[in-house]
Amino acid sequence: MEENFDLLVVGGGPGGYVCAIRAAQLGLKTGCIETRGTLGGTCLNVGCIPSKSLLNSSEMFFKAKNNFGNLGIETGQIKLNLKKMMMNKSKSVQVLTKGVEFLFKKNKVSYIKGKGVLFSKNDVVVYQDNNKKSYKAKNIVIATGSASVPIKGINIDEKNIVSSTGALSLEKVPNNLVIIGGGYIGLEMGSVWARLGSKVTVIEYLDHITPGMDKEISKEFEKILTKQGINFKLNCKVNDVKNSNNKLIVEYTNNKTNTQENLECDKVLVSVGRKPYTEGLNLTKVGIRKDSKGRIEVNKKFQTSVPNIFAIGDVIKGPMLAHKAEEEGIAVAEILAGQSGHVNYDVIPGVIYTSPEVATVGKTEEQLKEEKISYKVGKFPFLANSRAKVNNEAEGFVKILADKKTDKVLGVHIIGPHCGDMIAEMGLAMEFGASSEDIARTCHAHPTHTEAIKEAALAVDKRPIHF
Ligand code: NAI
Repeated sequence: MEENFDLLVVGGGPGGYVCAIRAAQLGLKTGCIETRGTLGGTCLNVGCIPSKSLLNSSEMFFKAKNNFGNLGIETGQIKLNLKKMMMNKSKSVQVLTKGVEFLFKKNKVSYIKGKGVLFSKNDVVVYQDNNKKSYKAKNIVIATGSASVPIKGINIDEKNIVSSTGALSLEKVPNNLVIIGGGYIGLEMGSVWARLGSKVTVIEYLDHITPGMDKEISKEFEKILTKQGINFKLNCKVNDVKNSNNKLIVEYTNNKTNTQENLECDKVLVSVGRKPYTEGLNLTKVGIRKDSKGRIEVNKKFQTSVPNIFAIGDVIKGPMLAHKAEEEGIAVAEILAGQSGHVNYDVIPGVIYTSPEVATVGKTEEQLKEEKISYKVGKFPFLANSRAKVNNEAEGFVKILADKKTDKVLGVHIIGPHCGDMIAEMGLAMEFGASSEDIARTCHAHPTHTEAIKEAALAVDKRPIHF
């Protein structure tokens, strides 16, 4: 007999599993369908989490090798054991994915293993191995995430030409690694392999890295990464990768000179974006509309063109970020339980976990100009922050953008130590509608990196103390 659910969530990534847990907390009989074999989606299995493990380990390796001596810490020869580093990464992933399974049990969410296919607006068929089973649901949430965008003609074999998935599991440190695309993935993975010894070249189509980021931050970021040894070829479009005598030849057009150039390397990472993943879901048959970019169309309540089917996360519009998907998952669960769930898209932070980190929330200076909003800017460099100075990590700055008339904080952009954690304070401030004056008058502990935020807020009205 078919099992009946109040809610069936298709996809067990950060959007789907959080939605399922919240729905179950609110008393809905909930099931979550996942085909990967483990919960947590791209983020936990082959994305945010394993990349952060490698970013952390590679940074420690690099520091032990290059910086410890300056601090009076004498070590023997520092050697890399890549296999062990990878094992540590896999163990962390395993613990966390099992943790989600435990949370499902604790909250009484049914974990349904297999590939979910929509059969009608209330029926989902789940295929696993050679079996299929049908389930009924009053409501369905699609949270199937995204997949890497390929480049036409370039075959990702996950061995020599890799996506982020393969780049997280290389068996050897490549001598020369070419990264196609200077976005989040390219720069995080580029940092990992550069620290472990690769010569890394990033080929980027635009004239700047990290599209969409505040330009001033993006320029500083490029400068810092260049100093770390990452080579940038901007304004260049990769057309093909050829295999010749066990070497890869990356062919690209230099847009400035309009010439064809090429670069030899042993591994290539393709990181030119991600696209919504809805393959095999049967969307058209049940009448779910997609937009021109392949994203599922939803209204403000995350309803698709079929009112009892909802969609969240990377399959709908907005930044492809785990925490954005989580917020949407919670909002949908609450809407389904009769509450007024919502997501404030003006305050979704973004973090790049390089060293230094880059963190941003709210509008960029370019967006404010485009939207003709008058603003004030306050900036403060970590060079003038005592904690960053003593830790020898004084690169970068904090930039606060506030409304010229009302002083309300509209955007905060930071490049500097630990700013991935520090940005939470700014998100909270913005949720509460804080002015730069509110931040400037908030006592920040000394000596901490967060004082740079307070000083940047003071700088909005040209009164920083330490600069
Ligand atoms: P991205 O959209 O951040 O960057 C892709 C870059 O590739 C762009 O700068 C684009 O101009 C460039 N490009 C496109 N075609 C090209 C070509 N033929 N030749 C040269 N350059 C080309 O995409 P990315 O880095 O793949 O990340 C995908 C998604 O994953 C993003 O939406 C990001 O938000 C998310 N992500 C977030 C992380 C975080 O929160 N820390 C970490 C990793 C990924």
